[in-house]
Amino acid sequence: MSDAIHPAAVIVLAAGEGTRMKSSTPKILHRIGGRSMVGHALDAAAALEPERLAVVVRHERDRVAAHVLDHAPQIAIVDQDDVPGTGRAVEVALEALEDLTHGTVVVTYGDVPLLSAELLGELVSRHVEEGNSATVLTARVEDPTGYGRVLRAEDGSVLGIKEQKDASEEELAINEINSGIYAFSASALRGALARVGTQNAQGEKYLTDVLGIMRQDGDRVSAAVTTDQWQVEGANDRVQLSALGRELNRRIVTKWMREGVTVMDPESTWIDVDVILARDVTLLPGTLLQGHTAIGEGATVGPDTTLVDTVVGRSATVKRTDATGSRIGAGASVGPFAYLRKDTVLGEDGKIGAFYETKNVTIGARTKLSHLGYAGDAEIGEDTNIGCGNITSNYDGVNKHRTVIGSQVRTGANTVFIAPVTVGDGAYTGAGAVVRKDVPAGALAITQAPQANSEGWVQRKRPGSAAAVAAMLASQTISDASSTPLQNGK
Ligand code: UD1
Ligand code: MG
Repeated sequence: MSDAIHPAAVIVLAAGEGTRMKSSTPKILHRIGGRSMVGHALDAAAALEPERLAVVVRHERDRVAAHVLDHAPQIAIVDQDDVPGTGRAVEVALEALEDLTHGTVVVTYGDVPLLSAELLGELVSRHVEEGNSATVLTARVEDPTGYGRVLRAEDGSVLGIKEQKDASEEELAINEINSGIYAFSASALRGALARVGTQNAQGEKYLTDVLGIMRQDGDRVSAAVTTDQWQVEGANDRVQLSALGRELNRRIVTKWMREGVTVMDPESTWIDVDVILARDVTLLPGTLLQGHTAIGEGATVGPDTTLVDTVVGRSATVKRTDATGSRIGAGASVGPFAYLRKDTVLGEDGKIGAFYETKNVTIGARTKLSHLGYAGDAEIGEDTNIGCGNITSNYDGVNKHRTVIGSQVRTGANTVFIAPVTVGDGAYTGAGAVVRKDVPAGALAITQAPQANSEGWVQRKRPGSAAAVAAMLASQTISDASSTPLQNGK
């Protein structure tokens, strides 16, 4: 927004309670698209690059303030007092920003998450270009119930706003609603707010009253009507939260498709706001991309995959996988049914196959952990093949220990590495080995006792059993086959 007009201040109202959420979490901390509602509001506000940014809090003050400061450390937290109403909320913010006497003040809500920086910027531009004292963002809706109605004169100019609870029958029939988002001239706003009372159906100090006061003073008051109603919609309960979340997602998914991402099923694909996708990424149904996930060119993700804060390299394939805080190298293959926990790093063209769990492990290029195992607190070199069912036994019940496996290693099925342990480059392990001691480079580690076959044990110990019958038939077949091979072999 560098060429736009920067307002002197944006005030985000967030003192309300939000009882209809029926939640122990304050309403504006509920999340859609991987970000809290107030986080969305603050980001849109911050994109205007205002000189000052303030948020007004009251309900669950400490929790909300901590979250807001975490999201935007430069913000001014303003506490609303016992006087209720949006007008009072703005008044306390202006008291806190005492040097704010001229320029444009934008007011938005913490529970209107789809409002974009672009629309807010258009509102500010129009406000400044028209030289207004107040410019309110409005929308024409099918059902205006609950909203303040925009009163216009016969010539179409804005007379003021009437709250639902104070409106007459005729006024209730008006379907142009107040979004609650405004641009004001700072000086006119200060003057008008000082004259707003609380003589209304709710006994509140209404911000909406300043428009009528300004109009009566002969100031310019104008309304900018948006046709994109989602952008002015607030979430008061979980039904609205879900609807807003779905719409936000639809917008994000559409944006990525336009950027060259193939999405087989947009309805079942959920992408957080901070996710980054390259061209020719393919997303299959049931894919959730969350947090700071990034996916490289030509990679295929899904179906049924959740990636949180995970980076996927170019041309990689990630199928039916749950991964958090991991890095998957270019050309690598993960899944189906893989569980990559924090700090899994898989090298280029590597593989973590079916039913593998990994955590805090660095795996070199072209190394394969193909099936059924656990690798944690480990480092594995390049071009190594980890056999089926291998496990790094990293936890001794008290502490975690590391397993280090070199490059060009081949491990037999069901090898267990009892950490701390190191396996040198080019070493082998036998199937079922329990590796407690370091294995030198190029050595073969075997820990199992030699196999002993007790011939005829089943016939002797389990006579007449199904196993004994099968064994007897097998021995006959073997002797028949060896004596008359051509007859049996057809
Ligand atoms: C308000 C508007 C109404 C508009 C509607 C749009 C007023 C008087 N009415 O009504 O015209 O159509 O928003 O959604 O402004 N808040 C505070 N402190 C308060 C009261 C509210 O910070 O004392 C904050 C809330 O947290 C919320 C916003 O202001 O973010 C709006 O409050 P809400 O109670 O929802 O206002 P409405 O009565 O819906
Ligand atoms: Mg409301």
